[in-house]
Amino acid sequence: MSTQKKISIDLTVYDSCEELCADYKILIDAAVAARKKAYAPYSNFLVGASVLLENGQIIEGNNQENASYPSGLCAERVAVFYAGAKFPNVKIKAIAVSATSLNNKLDTPAAPCGNCRQAISEYEFKQHAPIKVLLMGETGSVVECSSLADLLPLGFNGSYLK
Ligand code: THU
Repeated sequence: MSTQKKISIDLTVYDSCEELCADYKILIDAAVAARKKAYAPYSNFLVGASVLLENGQIIEGNNQENASYPSGLCAERVAVFYAGAKFPNVKIKAIAVSATSLNNKLDTPAAPCGNCRQAISEYEFKQHAPIKVLLMGETGSVVECSSLADLLPLGFNGSYLK
């Protein structure tokens, strides 16, 4: 016998970042500022990420590319790893991401890659509390997801390693 199951997720779509509450507007502004400092000479795809911690601190990161391509790292992981390194015991409330291409201005959000979803999910698992995700292109709408787990259904985590 087999059972069909359906997984669905709830997203909130804002027409623009101006509609976000003050805290998240500040957070997305930080992601935009970080994006402008990205080091992406090979792809010309610029990504900025900003992490809001429970203590109110904001940590920023951006993609760092490398002539040996796999040695580079995505913005989201630069940001969450830095947050984890600097504030190992402080929970992450939210992560905001802004992405665009120098070749093609993005006016819709880009989704975080699978590796970044896995990396962020580690912190959600560690802190037993959801991490809100806000996604934006260079301009335009913002997609909000209340938990990273929604973006990584059937994810792998440390519970399997006991
Ligand atoms: N990139 C990110 O920074 N985050 C993502 O989630 C997707 C891709 C970067 C990696 C690389 O520097 C460039 O975008 C093109 O893949």
